[in-house]
Amino acid sequence: MAEKTPGKVTMEKIVSLSQRRGFIFPSSEIYGGLSSCWDYGPLGVELKRNVKEAWWRNIVQGRDDMMGLDASILMHPQTWAASGHLEQFTDPLVECKQCHLRWRADELTATDKRCPSCGGELTEPHHFNLMFKTFMGPVEEEANVVYLRPETAQGIFVNFPNVLTTTRKRLPFGIAQLGKAFRNEITTGNFIFRSREFEQMEIEYFVRPDTADKWFEYWLEERRRWYLNLGIREGNLRLRPHGEEELAHYARKCYDIDYNFPMGWAELEGIANRGDYDLMQHAKSSGREMTYYDEEAKEHIVPYIIEPSAGVDRSMLAFLCDAYDEEIAQGELRVVLHLHPSLAPYKVSVLPLSKKENLAKAAREVYDDLRPCWMVHYDDTQSIGRRYRRQDEVGTPYCVTIDFQSLEDKQVTIRERDSMNQIRVPIAVLKETLAAKLAGEDLFVLPEGGQIWKEEGK
Ligand code: GAP
Repeated sequence: MAEKTPGKVTMEKIVSLSQRRGFIFPSSEIYGGLSSCWDYGPLGVELKRNVKEAWWRNIVQGRDDMMGLDASILMHPQTWAASGHLEQFTDPLVECKQCHLRWRADELTATDKRCPSCGGELTEPHHFNLMFKTFMGPVEEEANVVYLRPETAQGIFVNFPNVLTTTRKRLPFGIAQLGKAFRNEITTGNFIFRSREFEQMEIEYFVRPDTADKWFEYWLEERRRWYLNLGIREGNLRLRPHGEEELAHYARKCYDIDYNFPMGWAELEGIANRGDYDLMQHAKSSGREMTYYDEEAKEHIVPYIIEPSAGVDRSMLAFLCDAYDEEIAQGELRVVLHLHPSLAPYKVSVLPLSKKENLAKAAREVYDDLRPCWMVHYDDTQSIGRRYRRQDEVGTPYCVTIDFQSLEDKQVTIRERDSMNQIRVPIAVLKETLAAKLAGEDLFVLPEGGQIWKEEGK
């Protein structure tokens, strides 16, 4: 039974909505699921694609100092020795001698001297490497071991000379990559916040060493702004510097962009100054030149790297949590996802007031006309009120209703998700009107005799 009073967002509500409406399912659910792996359903895949699109448009398409890359997930194993991941990409693991549950020693509190689950005695911590191992080819022996990449970044570093020689870019410039990463995390949880298979959106921005601090500050603000421009509330973001002991083995400096998730503040994206660590390591290990020829100074230099590294899944979770809202409308609980229009899975839903043939035909024509432009949804089941609520719950910014009058006056009703305002517009200008609204323009010309009204109860 739905709650009758509006409440605040909780992880349970986000999980429930995600499953109920087809955003996110447990992986291989019919077999009981696979721990911390998730499948993105029909709406989830759209939201995820839109997050990635928004990032790519902003980072690659929108800039002339950035190039894209799509490197393979499996890389030469020497990559991981050179990058330090074989040695240092570990978490301290303890195991309960009684129930055999495993814990990250650094996440246990000082008072947790015993197993937090059963109180049993814990083993001494040992370093557990987080990389997934597999074998290349049919023979399962040490010489054929390969790893699933734990970060997309290394694909960028090893391609630095290729990109440099093929594009002849001058410093500063960046290489951006989107793709899967895998970590055999000891503790997972909080839904898609920490999983074993996830996607990253990473930028490696190559700069002259003496300008690294300036570019670090630049990217902190640039990335913070990206979340704000896509609707995240400013009070739900904070910047957190890493202490010395927390820095990754490659980082000189790092800040997290944290989001105020329902379970508390946690990392959304990390911005690191990796210095020349990665290029130097790969140069040493491969024997290849990993330098940049500085025309002004007439010398080869090893650039420093500023790395804004974001998670697709974690961003999705933040966008879902931030957009989630409950309110009372017309005496009922209304659940709304106030997603930014560019992120919403469906931009428009077409709703014929009845299933009668002539109305359905007119509605189908509108639907077919809009579909080449956007992801458009069609719904002709149950009352119009229920259909509006269903679209509110999945964040569809606009519903277009076709009624019997539409057959006479060739006009339809556009209903806005957030304000619940409704306007009537001629079908002839529907596409332009929706395009303007979706682009954030609030101005549109009402036809003669056109009107704006509000659903009751808000
Ligand atoms: N190349 C640097 C790097 O990988 P990171 O802080 O380990 O840095 C970057 O990861 C981002 O990747 C995180 O801010 C987070 O958004 C995402 N991420 C990392 N581990 C994750 C996991 N187990 N599940 C989901 N997202 C994860």
